[in-house]
Amino acid sequence: MNMRVEDHPILGVLDNESDGVRVVVDGEALQARPGEVIAATLMAHGRSVFRYTNRRGEPRNLFCGIGRCTDCVMTVDGIPNVRTCVTVVRDGMVVETQRGNGAWGRCDDGR
Ligand code: FES
Repeated sequence: MNMRVEDHPILGVLDNESDGVRVVVDGEALQARPGEVIAATLMAHGRSVFRYTNRRGEPRNLFCGIGRCTDCVMTVDGIPNVRTCVTVVRDGMVVETQRGNGAWGRCDDGR
């Protein structure tokens, strides 16, 4: 599912296919626009859960959107607690849904 704006009233028709970067999110390759933050890529592809809380396992995604609340943290390239609302995508980046406090250097599925 692609939820990107394709025809913006001010910017015009936006090219969503070329010159993008690819990030791998929970094993799925997603197309991203250069310079956008991880959260924007996830939202554009209809992803609504970024992490699960430590105690109750409740789903979370964006709340503040400016790097203050930590609701959007995910494991990025093996590093837990990365704020995806303020972290810019990079080609080949590996992003994983975080459970609880996350873990360094391994995936949440135990790899
Ligand atoms: S949404 Fe609050 S830190 Fe990212």
